[in-house]
Amino acid sequence: MPTHQSLSGSSDEDLLRRMVETHPERYGPDFWAFFSARVGASLPPRPVMIDLGCGPGLLLRDLAERYSGSTLYGYDVTPAMVAYGRQLSYGTANATLALLDVATQPLPHDTGTVHLTTMSSVLHVFDEPLGALAEIRRVLAPGGLFLLQDWIRQPLETYLAYRRDVLKEPPAECVRRGFRLFPAHNKYTTEDWQWLLAAAGFTLLDQTQLRASHRIFVATPTVPPDQARNAFMAVTSAGVPPKR
Ligand SMILES: C[S@@+](CC[C@H](N)C(=O)[O-])C[C@H]1O[C@@H](n2cnc3c(N)ncnc32)[C@H](O)[C@@H]1O
Repeated sequence: MPTHQSLSGSSDEDLLRRMVETHPERYGPDFWAFFSARVGASLPPRPVMIDLGCGPGLLLRDLAERYSGSTLYGYDVTPAMVAYGRQLSYGTANATLALLDVATQPLPHDTGTVHLTTMSSVLHVFDEPLGALAEIRRVLAPGGLFLLQDWIRQPLETYLAYRRDVLKEPPAECVRRGFRLFPAHNKYTTEDWQWLLAAAGFTLLDQTQLRASHRIFVATPTVPPDQARNAFMAVTSAGVPPKR
């Protein structure tokens, strides 16, 4: 399976440096405003949260600042990323960072035990994303949330202009990296992501676009009709749903 490094022709250290340098603009005030309103409002005070393909661990550090006493897990397939993340401070949160190939390995969590799983700029590189999505669905608690942020398809001209004007890549690098990465970054449309989430058993709760290149989706495991009915019956006083 291709990796971010093989696709972009960069070393682990290059990718690490790029993720660290661009973190503040990728997770700026707009992101946290959306997060607070659409994700944070549904989380318990001390949530269990997982970041898949966590890179240098900076999103987990940001979450630790907002949720003291939370339990955090970060998984990444690149040793340099996990090593960087392990030396960050997570305050009073309990953070565990580990090497894991999320595309092929199960998540080391019991079923229904996680309140939030995040995945940012990772899933598009997987040859087949449904296995990882099934694992995310499995570990989420009832009502748990999946925050997916990933590249969406853009016309070639727009994509190259984005690399030149927003990422500020010098012309030669913009052309070299742009043509090389275009197929990977332009794999899925917004509709494709929506379809994938539904096909993997998620109900889409919210979505937004804070950058031209990426879309953010908030989803929760779809409750099968029989389970929804059981939950409904459990809360009616006699255990019998009222007649319509
Ligand atoms: C573009 S970086 C994004 C890092 C981080 N999510 C962020 O937004 O800053 C992609 C990360 O996904 C990791 N990755 C790629 N394939 C993976 C896999 N199969 N399992 C776990 N991590 C993976 C890479 O090592 C890299 O750290």
